[in-house]
Amino acid sequence: MAHLEIVDVTRRFGDFLAVDRVTLSIAVGEFFTLLGPSGCGKTTLLRMIAGFDQPDGGRILLDGKDLADLPPEERPVRTVFQSYALFPHMTVQGNVAFPLKMAKTPPAEIPAKVAQMLEGVRLSGFAGRFPHELSGGQRQRVAIARALVTHPTLLLLDEPLAALDAKLREEMQIELINLQRDVGITFVYVTHDQTEALALSHRIAVMNKGRVEQVDEPDRLYSFPRTRFVADFIGTCNLLAGPVTDTTDGVATIAVSNLGPVVVAAGVAPAQGAAGAVALRPEKVRLAAPGTAAAAANRFAGTITGFLYQGDVTMYMVRAAQGHPMEALLANSASGLAKFFEVGDAVEMSWPADAGHYVEDETR
Ligand SMILES: Nc1ncnc2c1ncn2[C@@H]1O[C@H](COP(=O)(O)OP(=O)(O)O)[C@@H](O)[C@H]1O
Ligand SMILES: [Mg+2]
Repeated sequence: MAHLEIVDVTRRFGDFLAVDRVTLSIAVGEFFTLLGPSGCGKTTLLRMIAGFDQPDGGRILLDGKDLADLPPEERPVRTVFQSYALFPHMTVQGNVAFPLKMAKTPPAEIPAKVAQMLEGVRLSGFAGRFPHELSGGQRQRVAIARALVTHPTLLLLDEPLAALDAKLREEMQIELINLQRDVGITFVYVTHDQTEALALSHRIAVMNKGRVEQVDEPDRLYSFPRTRFVADFIGTCNLLAGPVTDTTDGVATIAVSNLGPVVVAAGVAPAQGAAGAVALRPEKVRLAAPGTAAAAANRFAGTITGFLYQGDVTMYMVRAAQGHPMEALLANSASGLAKFFEVGDAVEMSWPADAGHYVEDETR
């Protein structure tokens, strides 16, 4: 049985559909992430799970029990927000002990529970400090300790690392992975940061305009995006769009304007004339000097218009002969070789039919 079931949940603000018939099924112990751009409805969905807001339609069930009539404080659910929301006048000890006092835990049991929780977030020795005496990362760890001390079955985290700088955020990501594994409870995590979602999650639901576009494991989302939106949102992607002109033996041909006909392996053959696109990761595009490219299903002439040297890799911007912009990522793995091409160089781009991935082009 699913642990958390969200069935056809809708939330309207006036005429505006903030959450549009979302259905999700989340298992016990999962690190599950809602990923999407700002304003796509992530926080609204989280608030309904927590009980701070009510759906206009649909149901939310936890272990098979409908949560509709349960106020937030009676749900076995805790939330950690982006802003730390610690009590500023209380010490770390006081902050973490607070939910235990509210739950009428016998006072004699509280110090041991707080100490254990602080150890879990690596803050033993900080019990006597006040929030203003802590770094941003430490404050967020206190917030997580306070949320977990009453052993909720579900922890909701709304962009908890968004206020931290990049280095600290990376450290906290690793800590969150370890913490979630150690405590073994279900995490529902909200972020607009795709790299964070890919790094942390067992599964990700990609949201767009209140709807869930795809639910999958991180590597499946990256390699097999189902829609143009998902392909574009998860990592860098060449999107080669146009009408489907042919489908034969599981290979579709798409007439891409400003490029030419592109062939792509398509698991489920799209209909002739359908609006399609090929999602092609830059690392799948090979670049060679004209006339030297190996045989491949897709070959196009182009010119280098720019490049970004990134140390281990270089991203090349290429304009196809007919004008379509492309990106190709080359590894600088050959020793001593940091650059293959200069701006203005003529090149041949090539990739096999199975290098790209067919997606429906819902924007047309
Ligand atoms: N209480 C509210 N009243 C009116 N509109 C709201 C309210 N809460 C959220 N919205 C709107 O709903 C949309 C989704 O918001 P939100 O769930 O906060 O997005 P996200 O967390 O993905 O950035 C936004 O367009 C937001 O302006
Ligand atoms: Mg939000």
